[in-house]
Amino acid sequence: MRVTAKAHTNIALIKYWGKRNEKLILPTNSSLSLTLDGFYTVTTTEFRDDLSKDVFILNGKEVEGEAYERVSSYLDLIRSYSKTERYAHIDSTNEVPTAAGFASSASGFAALAASATKALGLQLDDKELSILTRQGSGSACRSIYGGFVEWQMGEKEDGSDSYGVPIASENYWDVRMAGVVLTAKTKKVSSRSGMKRTVDTSPYYSGWLASVPNDLENIKEAIREKDFEKLGSIAESNCLKMHATTLAANPPFTYWLDSTVRVMHAVQQLREEGIPAYFTIDAGPNVKVLYLPESEAKVAAALKSIPDVTDVILSKPGPGITYL
Ligand code: PMV
Repeated sequence: MRVTAKAHTNIALIKYWGKRNEKLILPTNSSLSLTLDGFYTVTTTEFRDDLSKDVFILNGKEVEGEAYERVSSYLDLIRSYSKTERYAHIDSTNEVPTAAGFASSASGFAALAASATKALGLQLDDKELSILTRQGSGSACRSIYGGFVEWQMGEKEDGSDSYGVPIASENYWDVRMAGVVLTAKTKKVSSRSGMKRTVDTSPYYSGWLASVPNDLENIKEAIREKDFEKLGSIAESNCLKMHATTLAANPPFTYWLDSTVRVMHAVQQLREEGIPAYFTIDAGPNVKVLYLPESEAKVAAALKSIPDVTDVILSKPGPGITYL
């Protein structure tokens, strides 16, 4: 069977930063994200008798090397659930800027897990699909659902209680996010190695861990109350704490460029002018800005006028997995 699935990417407002189990991808803290409408991956998977290896096409080009190996070994995991030995033909289109920090791995692994499991006739519920997706890329387990999603870290060693849980659907609250694109260069420190170095060496890591449960409780309250200022200020401070841990790592590192800091200042300036806007930043230099629909024109104009900003992509809350 050929199955096509569409998954949207998500951006964390409370970050996942650190693993307690690298193989199963089990986090050291719970996280919470917003699934976005504007960024998604569409993937068609078919397991075939005539293939002698997996074939992975991304945006019309056959992929080889490290990215291919990562997908193929993930397919081995999926194959182990269905006892098939057939190889897969995967055709994927990414509607996510390939630039650093736009989490194409989240929508990519969610669309792959959904299409491959359905193509094999596996009947997984959303929770099981989230657990399987987590093992491709941690943050991807939140992309099973639309809107606001919590990844509950769980306690068990086998990962059976570590998965995404929907908090509020994409229709609950129209909070917008602008993706501010600064550079197309690939980042120097991957999220995987950045997390590991921070967990292993940063004296600030324990402070990060101690502060996340409060941020999580408070942001869920902000979502319940639809209190945008509360939501945005918690997200912004949580992001700054995550990035502070990298500055204290050994050797120290940062994902920020000078232009990243310029965008952060521009967002603070917007607030001083009475426009509610808050930033968040992932494991890359680009900035995402939270705002409300009525401020869209002003926020977009302010961000586009910053030197070094190459693109500003506006997005609404997006849906969970769909099958086409
Ligand atoms: O799932 P990964 O390996 O792409 O890690 C994502 C880490 C952050 O984007 C920095 C935070 C998050 O929760 O998405």
